[in-house]
Amino acid sequence: MHGFERRGLIAPQGHFSTTGRFGRMFPTMPGLESFSPGPLALGEPTGPMDGGSPAPGNTSQNNPRIRAGYTFLGQFIDHDLTLDVTSTLERQIDVSATHNFRTPVLELDSVYGLGPSVQPYLFDTDGVRFLLPDGETDLQRNANGRALIGDPRNDENLIISQLHLLFLKFHNKVTETAEINALTGLEKFLATQTLVRRHYQWIVLHEFLPRIVGAETVARVIAERPFLFPSDAFMPVEFSIAAYRFGHSQTRPGYALNATAGGLLFPKDPADGDLRGFRPIAPARAVDWTFFFGPHDPNPGGRQDSKFIDTRLSTAMLHLPNGVVPASTPLNQRSLATRNLQRGLDARLPSGQDVAAKLLSPEVRLAEADIWTGVAGGEGPAPLWYYILKEAEVMGQGLQLAGVGAEIVARTFVAILLADPASFLNREPDWTPTLGKTEGQFTVTDLVSFTEGRDVPGERVADLPSPSGPVEAIGIIAGDTPPEVPGAG
Ligand code: HEM
Repeated sequence: MHGFERRGLIAPQGHFSTTGRFGRMFPTMPGLESFSPGPLALGEPTGPMDGGSPAPGNTSQNNPRIRAGYTFLGQFIDHDLTLDVTSTLERQIDVSATHNFRTPVLELDSVYGLGPSVQPYLFDTDGVRFLLPDGETDLQRNANGRALIGDPRNDENLIISQLHLLFLKFHNKVTETAEINALTGLEKFLATQTLVRRHYQWIVLHEFLPRIVGAETVARVIAERPFLFPSDAFMPVEFSIAAYRFGHSQTRPGYALNATAGGLLFPKDPADGDLRGFRPIAPARAVDWTFFFGPHDPNPGGRQDSKFIDTRLSTAMLHLPNGVVPASTPLNQRSLATRNLQRGLDARLPSGQDVAAKLLSPEVRLAEADIWTGVAGGEGPAPLWYYILKEAEVMGQGLQLAGVGAEIVARTFVAILLADPASFLNREPDWTPTLGKTEGQFTVTDLVSFTEGRDVPGERVADLPSPSGPVEAIGIIAGDTPPEVPGAG
């Protein structure tokens, strides 16, 4: 599972990458071997990265630029791209020998698995549509309640499990379109898969990324292509162990699922509404996607945003429960902040300052005085993951990544799409989506509208609050306290 030791050993390897290895975006840069105050002190519960502990300038706020659903879309995309089965904190990492068992390609292999010939139990008897249980409010499950899907990590919490279901239903709906319906058998499956993949890649490139890093950065990176893989695509550790873990800061302690149900990600008491995965989902707890995507509504009891991207994590993320980490994990390694920081050291990632010196001119770098504010004993070279969160906090006003974080994320996604001979960006760069409400556009709300046959209103990324404009304060998320969750408890 996501972040679990030895997860997904049987996970499928797609067919585009021949190496499946991690690599480095900055191969010649020296690695950071230690920092002050160290991973245990910086990541400890009630420490400087704990969003729930009282501290000056608590920035644990609703992010009006990024609705809550994009956190889980981000995790879903991570599962499409990365699968590291060597995630033990004790082990030093030899990056060149560490396998990324997931192909670094945006091809939805987490959804398609090995396809209908090799994994026919995922599909209907026609070998085209995904098999879904009656009512289609949950995934297919075995007698133990485990989901029968292409990647077990997509069942680790209720919301990503429902997002996986949404993609299965999207695929099934696409088979009914006029251009696909006339086809049969494998040809029909492959045509559907291609159309689904292209619409998904479009969402990543033209909606998800612009929200996370800003539309100008995406456009510039597509035009200038500052980072390309020297030969086969690999997973840059600067992305997987630092920049893309920004999502850990976006995660809220709990979520409303629909008008009547909700809960906490890691409840101490199951009466608080349990969002942990690997178990059947009752129809009354099925996600209503208007609670996760769509126009921002400041009513905290109704719609919900992701948490600000900053140096503070929801308290629950600093107390990872069994099931997310192995039961043998000692207390001081149950903080996701400590784990990320330690993994960065193990992988000898360069410091944030070194990467900034290479990528950014001095006037657009994070000021040295801002790097360690609020951290007792914090000084000198900063770990890349922490530095990127600080950039988002200070330069991105908590709304989005900035500086090196934005560069690494945008460069990696664009390089991955350009390295994939089947991606629309490579094969047919002028292709535009055909399934949206407006010709040539496609967003997550279009995907929901198309799949569910109802009109879910969308947002134009250009209209969203950005760091260059005023940021409306719309409410603190108390770190360890759930948001107003209807139906919890
Ligand atoms: C829903 C709550 C989440 C939980 C509980 C969670 C937990 C974890 C854990 C325990 C790890 C392994 C840490 C280690 O190295 O030991 C991990 C890795 C990682 N997480 Fe998350 N995560 C969450 C959401 C996200 C989101 C939203 C993103 C990105 C948008 C993300 C991106 C990553 C990446 C890139 C890795 C490393 C690659 C991998 O092993 O899959 N995570 N996460």
